[in-house]
Amino acid sequence: MIYTKEDFGEDFKWGVSTAAYQIEGGYNLDGKGKSVWDVFSNTKGKTFLGQNGNIACDFYHRYAHDIALMSQLNIPNYRFSISWSRITPNGWGAANPKGIEFYNKIIDFCLDLGIEPWITLYHWDLPYELEKKGGWTNRQIINWFSDYVQFCIKTFGNRVKHWIILNEPMVFTGAGYFLGVHAPGKKGLTNFLAAAHHAALCQAEGGRIVRSMLPGSIVGTTFSCSYIEAFRDKKQDILASTRVDALLNRMFVEPLAGMGYPIKDLKLLQRLEPFVKDGDESRLAFDMDFIGVQNYTREVVAWSYLTPLIWAKIIAAKKRNVETTVMNWEVYPECIYQMLHKFNAYKNFNRLIVTENGAAFPDVVIDNKVNDEKRKKYLHEHIAQVLKAKQEGVNVKGYFVWSFTDNFEWAEGYQPRFGLVHVDFQTQQRIVKSSGYWYGKFLQSAALENTVLKN
Ligand code: BGC
Repeated sequence: MIYTKEDFGEDFKWGVSTAAYQIEGGYNLDGKGKSVWDVFSNTKGKTFLGQNGNIACDFYHRYAHDIALMSQLNIPNYRFSISWSRITPNGWGAANPKGIEFYNKIIDFCLDLGIEPWITLYHWDLPYELEKKGGWTNRQIINWFSDYVQFCIKTFGNRVKHWIILNEPMVFTGAGYFLGVHAPGKKGLTNFLAAAHHAALCQAEGGRIVRSMLPGSIVGTTFSCSYIEAFRDKKQDILASTRVDALLNRMFVEPLAGMGYPIKDLKLLQRLEPFVKDGDESRLAFDMDFIGVQNYTREVVAWSYLTPLIWAKIIAAKKRNVETTVMNWEVYPECIYQMLHKFNAYKNFNRLIVTENGAAFPDVVIDNKVNDEKRKKYLHEHIAQVLKAKQEGVNVKGYFVWSFTDNFEWAEGYQPRFGLVHVDFQTQQRIVKSSGYWYGKFLQSAALENTVLKN
């Protein structure tokens, strides 16, 4: 497929995404409080080789260089997150002026260079002081989070128009409170369901706060999603895939859309009941200006008797002999097209924006260059699928690459590299990869240069 940036229309937002804990470092500097990720990744045995985000990409000191690089690559929109415990060390109460100053500098620097800042309010790094009180499992989180959102809007709202409430609630509640493989490392269904319900309430409440305090702002929230297919064309596998789809793709967006939780297709969600209070159903709904679709792969699902809560298992990509990334995720570009169609069917959101898409491949540095053909191809093919969906009437209005630089990939540490820009974590040297130059060229106006990409 051949396409140019102009095929997406002038109002289409192109950008890159990052998250505070994955890039900033400066974990204990200038009055910052600890987050659950500071504690988790510094606990033995929790992450790959015990790696942590204490320094990460040292964005805390190198933000100006990195944002200038973004500008050189013609990237017009930058999505980053605020570390809650950097600006309010305990999660509530006294603010940290140095932390606020840091985000002010990022915002001002972006604006000076003509880059539009998009702020994610929560990308998984809960203040540790709040986790000590139960974190997302404590319903009080609605008050803590609301105060935090109000504080951010008061502090940064005069210069920032685009706001994202949560990053992927399914992942931080599922991996962090059910499986225990992400911070805070809690396990079990009760922890998960409590955390999930409170996160679903916070995403809507956050949306209401931003809209009421900042008229004219554009507010959304993001969802992880995977295209789900049944392993065999058999009733048991098809039903299993419907359950997994309800859990991974529908559980957080449907209450926001005013449809309630997808209990009909996933009975285990009946167990949310003890956490649901009078009036919650309407509180869960909010008509976001946009939904952030975050997609990387598809999952193939079969029935299984080994997993009684969901009676389903995922058939790993490795077992299916398909091309995979370093994350062992299948490369399957059509998945993003399918997910955009799926999310487009929810009626009460104004538009969709792909707030994350990208891939980790084993990059090699030769002569100070990284020739990452696979990532280039991955991005090119996924963007083509976004265009296909758009041409079929899907209301998608933006695409953000995950991620700008290589970074700390949570429990997987520094091994998976997702960046358009390579980072040497010993020296902090940056090298723009071929995919970075490719994206930069693509983002140049077609009037200046007719950037035509061929398969
Ligand atoms: C998250 C990112 C993460 C990326 C790749 C998303 O789930 O928002 O923080 O690095 O996927 O795994």
